[in-house]
Amino acid sequence: MASVELSKVANSDTHGEDSPYFAGWKAYDEDPFDEVHNPCGVIQMGLAENQVSFDMVEEYLEKHSKTINCGSGISNFRENALFQDYHGLYSFRKSMAKFMEKIRGGRAKFNPDRIVITAGATAANELLTFILADPGDALLVPTPYYPGFDRDLRWRTGVKIIPIHCNSSNNFQVTPQALESAYEEAKSNKIKVRGILITNPSNPLGATIQRSNLEGILDFAVRKNIHLISDEIYSGSAFCSSEFVSIAEVLESRNDVDSERVHIVYSLSKDLGLPGFRVGTIYSYNDNVVTTARRMSSFTLISSQTQQLLASMLSNEEFTTNYIKTNRNRLRKRYEKIIDGLKSSGIECLKGNAGLFCWMNLSQLLENSTKECELELWNSILCEVKLNISPGSSCHCSEPGWFRVCFANMSEQTLEIALKRLHNFMKRTQKRD
Ligand SMILES: Cc1ncc(COP(=O)(O)O)c(C=O)c1O
Repeated sequence: MASVELSKVANSDTHGEDSPYFAGWKAYDEDPFDEVHNPCGVIQMGLAENQVSFDMVEEYLEKHSKTINCGSGISNFRENALFQDYHGLYSFRKSMAKFMEKIRGGRAKFNPDRIVITAGATAANELLTFILADPGDALLVPTPYYPGFDRDLRWRTGVKIIPIHCNSSNNFQVTPQALESAYEEAKSNKIKVRGILITNPSNPLGATIQRSNLEGILDFAVRKNIHLISDEIYSGSAFCSSEFVSIAEVLESRNDVDSERVHIVYSLSKDLGLPGFRVGTIYSYNDNVVTTARRMSSFTLISSQTQQLLASMLSNEEFTTNYIKTNRNRLRKRYEKIIDGLKSSGIECLKGNAGLFCWMNLSQLLENSTKECELELWNSILCEVKLNISPGSSCHCSEPGWFRVCFANMSEQTLEIALKRLHNFMKRTQKRD
């Protein structure tokens, strides 16, 4: 009997889940490292989670458990249980706007009325793509980029990604030439470009975009009359906060002249280490986009309970000030630890200043500078060294030999074990040569 058919979307492979990025997660799930129970297992270094500051969130929750659990009694519970307005709780939007200002050192202002709530940045990016582009149109995305974009921007929307190829010769910065050639590529294939999506600070590079480059990207968007989405999900991870320039700051310095084409995506998955809470936002300077995004957000709201909890936590000035500072310091320390450890094994990384990962260069170990050789090396590191790292090709990097290595989703001891394993691998490899 013929099988029952599913839709084109269901059958499409644009979800991108057949990439080594996800295969590595599976290998970890099948044999997860545990210091006591499975010390030879796979260490997960392919997951951009932030676990270094859990203690501060836990301490806050413990201290405030009464207010969080009961609110102001039974009437509060009933009100909250019934609340499903897609505008979200005003108290939540207000405290989110404040938090977004704070992680930018107060250098940009956010209006709570422009905040649209979504279930994480995943939903925010897809929702914006639905609003800004039609099936068959394209967004330009600088490479290397977060592998999840293949799913989030393309799968259900039918929109294409055209890569803006960046390379190590200028530390993977987005140049005017790279922008122009991606745009021309789309044009020659008769594909309409509707916008550019950047991640700042970048995933997987672990670096902030320099102000001059940001200005150049915005000028390009203005010249071509297209949108600019800035995914700023890692803004609280910039170790030196003054080095992170949000597109919001650039707009303010221009008196908001080009703002109607700019949309910021943010979420608490990375900065507060809460991916399971599914808390994201779209901040758009365009009234029509705000209205449409709100309507569409019905599909991906945040539960009222979560909104209430976070409204209270994020409006606590003492907590947020201490959290932001301590979290950044801890991430910097982790970053320095991994960079030093890799250096002592003869491995160089791109100079980073943000993120939960570093961008490691192993091109010297490739027999040939090809994607196939990169994947062979990735497979040896996964199967022999038992480390799951993400190959650059899964992030569409055009230069073979780069890998994203996450360092904030494990204890310091586990990180030390991972570094030791890599050190031994490098020694073995050098001996073989
Ligand atoms: C650049 C970028 N955007 C979006 C996401 C998805 O985040 P969320 O958990 O908020 O959906 C991630 C997660 O890794 C990311 O790195």
